[in-house]
Amino acid sequence: MLPDAEIKKQVREFYNHVGWQGASNGFYQNAIYEDLRPVSQEYIHKCHLRLLRHLNPSGRYLLDAGSGPIQYPEYLEYSRGYQRRVCADISLVALQEARKRIGTHGLYVVCDIASLPFKAAIFDGMVSLHTIHHLPSDEHLRAYQELYRTLAVKGTGVVVNGWDNPPLTVLTDFCIRLVERLYALLRLQPRRDIPRQPSTTTTSQAQARGTFVRKHNAAWLQAEVGRLMPLSIWCWRSVSVRFLRTFIHPRFAGKTLLKILYWKEELFPHFLGKYGQYPLIEMEKSENKVMENP
Ligand SMILES: C[S@@+](CC[C@H](N)C(=O)[O-])C[C@H]1O[C@@H](n2cnc3c(N)ncnc32)[C@H](O)[C@@H]1O
Repeated sequence: MLPDAEIKKQVREFYNHVGWQGASNGFYQNAIYEDLRPVSQEYIHKCHLRLLRHLNPSGRYLLDAGSGPIQYPEYLEYSRGYQRRVCADISLVALQEARKRIGTHGLYVVCDIASLPFKAAIFDGMVSLHTIHHLPSDEHLRAYQELYRTLAVKGTGVVVNGWDNPPLTVLTDFCIRLVERLYALLRLQPRRDIPRQPSTTTTSQAQARGTFVRKHNAAWLQAEVGRLMPLSIWCWRSVSVRFLRTFIHPRFAGKTLLKILYWKEELFPHFLGKYGQYPLIEMEKSENKVMENP
């Protein structure tokens, strides 16, 4: 097993040299993990905007922890009401790209989110999307603590990270394997253009398949993080990109199916947040709650 510093170095190099390099379709290489097809566009757009319901709409500073290049237009909305957006990322290329998008509205800090170089209670809002999973497992808790420490009283924060093998994904993956077998039987070509983001990637696999990723499940979050700070789990998106690619097609009522899925997620946000693929983890710092050391 590699030391934590080596893991972070590999993650940084991956984003500097691969993830945040442009691809021929006008997106970053990293976007291969997203479903960018027109049939899914409206659903993905609405999921991105869900964050706004959980964030203070305005304030002085918004922290974007692991900002990347602020790659999707919806991301710009999160800091629209704030004076400045503080983009914090381990990758210099990410921040150079972010600066192209938001210029002087941003402040750019190369740092590690497990050890934030900011004083306590400075941010009125915080977002951290798809970043904590790049930390070594034993640093996830510390990252949550750092995000909470730097949040102002009455500040609100949102973390989005995929769960490790959530029940609904286990179930849908089973269905996907059946569909793939059917494809094979009918000698049709299954869609393999989107690599599956693994829940655990060893560093030796990293060059070939992406970079280091380590996820936890809802039980871990509630037990380990929930005892230190008030959290609530909502649904950001209940299905994986693999699911979308397999079951959502323009010629088979894809848009309608996604409207129904979105409606279900709105009806059962806590259930689908906990058991679906991507939770939206809301944290709010109340005046009374004092964080204790673990
Ligand atoms: C999957 S990208 C997500 C970027 C952006 N939040 C988004 O959703 O598009 C992960 C980002 O986290 C950054 N990152 C990874 N580990 C980090 C760490 N320990 N501290 C700060 N940033 C980190 C990477 O450089 C990369 O830009």
